[in-house]
Amino acid sequence: DQKKKVDKYLHQFHLSDKTLMELSMRFRREMDKGLCRDTNPTAAVKMLPTYVRSTPDGTEQGEFLALDLGGSNFRILLVKVKGNGDQKVEMESQIYDIPDLVMRGSGSDLFDHIADCLANFLEKMGIKNKKLPLGFTFSFPCLQTKLDESVLISWTKGFRLSGVEGNDVVSLLRKSIKKRGDFDTDIMAVISDTVGTMMTCGFDDRHCEIGLIVGTGTNACYMEQMRNLQLMDGDEGQMCVNTEWGAFGDDGALEDLRTDIDREIDAGSLNPGKQLFEKMISGLYMGELVRLILVKMARKQLLFQGQTTPQLLTSGCFSTNYIYAIESDKDEEGLASAEKALRSLGLDPSAEDCAATRRICQIVSTRAAHLCASTLAAVMRQIRDNKAAEKLRITIGVDGSVYKGHPEFSRKLNKMVRRLVPDCDVRFLQSQHGSGKGAAMVTAVAYRLATQHA
Ligand code: BG6
Ligand code: GLC
Repeated sequence: DQKKKVDKYLHQFHLSDKTLMELSMRFRREMDKGLCRDTNPTAAVKMLPTYVRSTPDGTEQGEFLALDLGGSNFRILLVKVKGNGDQKVEMESQIYDIPDLVMRGSGSDLFDHIADCLANFLEKMGIKNKKLPLGFTFSFPCLQTKLDESVLISWTKGFRLSGVEGNDVVSLLRKSIKKRGDFDTDIMAVISDTVGTMMTCGFDDRHCEIGLIVGTGTNACYMEQMRNLQLMDGDEGQMCVNTEWGAFGDDGALEDLRTDIDREIDAGSLNPGKQLFEKMISGLYMGELVRLILVKMARKQLLFQGQTTPQLLTSGCFSTNYIYAIESDKDEEGLASAEKALRSLGLDPSAEDCAATRRICQIVSTRAAHLCASTLAAVMRQIRDNKAAEKLRITIGVDGSVYKGHPEFSRKLNKMVRRLVPDCDVRFLQSQHGSGKGAAMVTAVAYRLATQHA
């Protein structure tokens, strides 16, 4: 039947427990490679120091601005933290559009645009004459030399603006703010969305030592022992490491698992050869993976009676949001959504075509969840070994449109993680208000230290 036909065609997408376990070990070796001074320069998985040395302790307080750039939305937030035991946080936020013209332009236009939005936000909040400390969630791989200096290594996901790679994004933002001249802020910290998520969740759960994102892109950070972070001086205490696991495989380490479809996605992307693991998983690519499979199967006469349409052949036309609807746990709803999605692409699908499409979505998203589980399991084992704990108790703070929007993804990920690391008491905690709260936490600590030393 239909299901068997699809399963057979996509057998390479099925990863056994044994393969996932082996992959998890492979990733653990990649982590080691990134952590070691000698091997780091050639490591695909960068294991970047974040200069965040502790999770929230409840004493954080003050009024902060947060910028959040790199996910599906660009957001500005005003966060008030009252750290007097009851840990109250109040937030105001606004989403701003980034026009296509800006996205296709130069970095300086982007930062000018951010400064314009910031001015608009401050005006709306009536605080344009206040100089508030600001935390910047900038969700791209960056080399940090301190908390408020962050050099973009390379754009990822849908971003590719000129003149930013190799430059400090704090300086760029300061320059754009200065150019306007009508307001001022203290940019105290740049953090990854993974760190923001870990800190946001860490505010509510002291066991939160991992931040996980499965959204437009995928990545994770965790609290590492300084003694293992050879890139940094000092052996005392901890520091959060941004793994940038999306780049796993960029040195060829995943070639045995990548399929023709994965190669095709990569070839048509903004950054060929880069972020190969991310391209097998995250929301920016999941719909496109399904579309490419549909095209291939149609060409093999396995779907749509061999028919294709111009829409089906257009990249980006199968939105990842379709997958969320098609995989609804109610069969009829899922199949109806499949039909709707296929019709919107100009196709005239049979009941079998709809069932096959649903199965394709399931296979693609299951592989994504299981791949994430295997790298996450490696991070958990690293933490367990660091603590020399027999049974690890840990909380993972999670955010991202795939994790939150897909009806089955979180369950499949959680289940596989428990299978891969059975001797572990793990809790997945969804971040509630994005990484803005976490950015405020980091900024609060930095601000306290700065004012203490001043
Ligand atoms: C949000 C964070 O909550 O999660 C963003 O605030 C982050 O900074 C995002 O990038 C990840 O999800 P998505 O689906 O928007 O890429
Ligand atoms: C991409 C970015 C990374 C970010 C992730 C999730 O992988 O390179 O920095 O954390 O997407 O948004």
